[in-house]
Amino acid sequence: MSAPERRHPDREAAARRAEELRRLIAYHRKRYYVDNDPEISDADYDALERELLELEEAFPDLRTADSPSLRVGGQPAEQFETYPHPTPMLSLDNAYTEAELRAWEERLVRLLGERPTYVVEPKVDGLSIAVHYREGLLERGLTRGDGLVGEDVTPNVRTIRSIPLRLARPVGRLEARGEVFMPRRAFQELNRKRLEQGQAPFANPRNAAAGSVRLLDSRITAERNLDCFFYALAALEGEPEPATHWEALERVRELGLRTNPLARPCATLEDVLGVVRELQALRHELDYETDGAVVKVDRLDQQRRAGATSKAPRWAIAFKFPAEQATTRVRHIAVQVGRTGALTPVAELEPVQLGGTTVSRATLHNEEEVRRKDVRIGDTVLIEKAGEIIPQVVKVILSQRPPDAQAFAMPAHCPECGAAVVREEGEIVSRCTGATCPAKLRESLRHFASRAALDIQGLGDALIEQLVSRRLVQDVADLYRLDQATLAALERMGPKSAANLLAQLEASKDQPLHRVIYALGIRHVGERTARLLAHHLGSMAALMDAPVEALEAIPEIGPKTARAIRTFFEQPANRDLVRRLREAGLRMEAAAPQAAVSGEAGSAFAGKTVVLTGTLPRHTREQARRMIEARGGRVTDHVSRTTDLVVAGEQPGSKLERARRLGIRVVDPEEFERMLGEA
Ligand code: IVH
Repeated sequence: MSAPERRHPDREAAARRAEELRRLIAYHRKRYYVDNDPEISDADYDALERELLELEEAFPDLRTADSPSLRVGGQPAEQFETYPHPTPMLSLDNAYTEAELRAWEERLVRLLGERPTYVVEPKVDGLSIAVHYREGLLERGLTRGDGLVGEDVTPNVRTIRSIPLRLARPVGRLEARGEVFMPRRAFQELNRKRLEQGQAPFANPRNAAAGSVRLLDSRITAERNLDCFFYALAALEGEPEPATHWEALERVRELGLRTNPLARPCATLEDVLGVVRELQALRHELDYETDGAVVKVDRLDQQRRAGATSKAPRWAIAFKFPAEQATTRVRHIAVQVGRTGALTPVAELEPVQLGGTTVSRATLHNEEEVRRKDVRIGDTVLIEKAGEIIPQVVKVILSQRPPDAQAFAMPAHCPECGAAVVREEGEIVSRCTGATCPAKLRESLRHFASRAALDIQGLGDALIEQLVSRRLVQDVADLYRLDQATLAALERMGPKSAANLLAQLEASKDQPLHRVIYALGIRHVGERTARLLAHHLGSMAALMDAPVEALEAIPEIGPKTARAIRTFFEQPANRDLVRRLREAGLRMEAAAPQAAVSGEAGSAFAGKTVVLTGTLPRHTREQARRMIEARGGRVTDHVSRTTDLVVAGEQPGSKLERARRLGIRVVDPEEFERMLGEA
């Protein structure tokens, strides 16, 4: 036995376990990121990574190039090194019409002497990246740069969780190219935080992704939730090369690199057009932005024969979707009052068609943003809409500014209640100080009843408006004092809708603690934070009296959130509100963990929103629903971004498709039964 091994008699065992863990991690990350079909829970996967991290800490010489410790980012760099691309990273020519696409095909037919078949893929709007692997290990990540020489952004690329640090099997050398992007949700969250901190928001997810990949401090990149789809195998040594692009995508996927599940082979240009139409119809449901479809000749020998110009290959073309930008005139800049009293300037626009809907408002975020973009009443502005995101003012068309255009000023008094408006030192948000502002109350009620909070359907805007203006409710707890007669007497209400609402209110009392916490609308306490608080503290009483230090000790909860929670519960009015909600019968304790058989037992469904689709071999839907509910879960009918899990039985419907698109975890009946058994 050599000296170091004598000093660490278990080093050998540790090395063996580390190797096994690396294999398991590579296997499960591929199931999760590439196949979209995980075999183990996120918690179990995290446990594997944690175990490896601990082993590496105990035996630092076991740390390899695929250590999960590299995912968190390292020391900031002074500047990027450059590195030449083995083959140039070209751009793509564009086609905007069907006629242009047909002309492109005819040129190809002339060049090749035959009609090719194709592959169509979404054109993801991010930035292109090249990754080099040697002996299966990630060696380097490069930006496109000028196409010939890229910037070495390896530490940043390592933080992108869908890019493997080690391939599913070792191949001599491999270069894959793909598109790094920021999912819409991550983008919205990032901009929300930036605005809150007085930083300029990113204009769109593409800029945000590009900015994040080119940060010198990879620890910040690690927090940006970037993602990646690979669309090309640029080099492969050590095994036979594929013959077609479609096979290349399959190979890339087999090796553990994520490809876009919406890519499709097409025998003819008619098929291509069909797929393009589908992709266009889908684009706003995807969690990433696309600006077109890329059409590629499938056979690689044909690709080689077609060749490239200095700028772009002749065998591929980007078929661009129609723009979702438009210009219109700002009629007025109104001010909206939010739940926390925050005043948001909103541009009221001359109605204009955009991405299939009529748009007449666009948010301007805050006073600073209005000033930065210099938007004035009467201006013509360029607006942009990307899916469900509220339309944004991109910029003012200055050449069309009328001489009488009026600058915006934040009002000194709340437009809803007349109370003074204050903007605190160092804050960018102006707030209404009115304790009884009807706008704040309306927004609190909306939030309280929203799907992610207590999910009180039937408490819509029109009803809220009446409840507030007739002073039937002064705060959210008053909802539980409403009676049948009062409700039935309201406009557009009758005995039936009154009874429905009362039943909904009754049902809301069974909502789990974390939803009640979220529903309170404490600043900085979103859904995830609310879950963490409920999980770690276990009751509302504990939360109300938790000192700042105890709150900060909870993972992911920072000083700002901890402070906001304290401030909220220091207000006697808020404590009184919680008391009245408790008296009304809302849950103030976390669901008792089901028979604690093993660590996480009983929690497979706790707090989870589950959707059932298809038939289950051993249970009716109703039985399945009851079993999930008995384990602290909730079953809903529709798959949305708030769904945590989809159980897919025989002959699943479109819900499965949708779940896959949204990247929601899907389990089969067998796994479902295993999860039930955990309780
Ligand atoms: S193929 C040599 N496929 O679009 C051709 N590009 O406008 C390489 N892009 O620089 C490009 N999705 O960053 C290809 N499925 C896809 C793509 C895609 C997005 C980007 C890529 C490229 C740019 C060209």
